[in-house]
Amino acid sequence: MLPAYLPNPVAALLGGGPPVDGGRNFSDGKRILGDGKTFRGLFLGIAAGIGIGLLQIRLSGAYGLENIPVHTFMSVTLLATGALLGDLCKSFFKRRFGKERGAKWPVADQYDLVAGALLLTLVINPSWILAYITLPVFIFILILTPVLHRTVNIIGYYMGVKEVPW
Ligand code: CTP
Ligand code: MG
Repeated sequence: MLPAYLPNPVAALLGGGPPVDGGRNFSDGKRILGDGKTFRGLFLGIAAGIGIGLLQIRLSGAYGLENIPVHTFMSVTLLATGALLGDLCKSFFKRRFGKERGAKWPVADQYDLVAGALLLTLVINPSWILAYITLPVFIFILILTPVLHRTVNIIGYYMGVKEVPW
């Protein structure tokens, strides 16, 4: 799941500049996505996710780790892209519910990346999901994700990268 987990923190670290929605409002008068979703965050985040995935591919087979899921260029690209598309979709709905940028939205804030990454991969590369995201793996992901999310966001907050610790 590293290719899905890395894009968000990298976007937080390196994002900024022009927002994806171009500063425009939706028909409800609120921002389409908000200033927290930038092109730079999107591209550098996805690039980082693909990069770590390619490293995983290079290292697979080493250290006797033959039993872990086998990534392909396709699977790492889909996981990384899906993670940040899920984050974008989350922000779209967050704005529709009138929540400002950075406002807390429990569950959605934690699982947007998982839903985006797994759904995009399921649609475009279903054999990878069916082979590796078994029920126990899926349950493990559901438990691990909020723990990692919270930990990384607290670190980001104290580093001054995140404005809020969630
Ligand atoms: N970020 C970015 N581009 C993205 C995603 C994130 O530049 N596509 C950066 C922004 O600086 C953002 C930070 O990463 O503020 C943290 O991301 P996130 O928590 O997803 O955004 P929020 O600011 O909380 O906005 P939202 O309420 O829409 O989730
Ligand atoms: Mg947020």
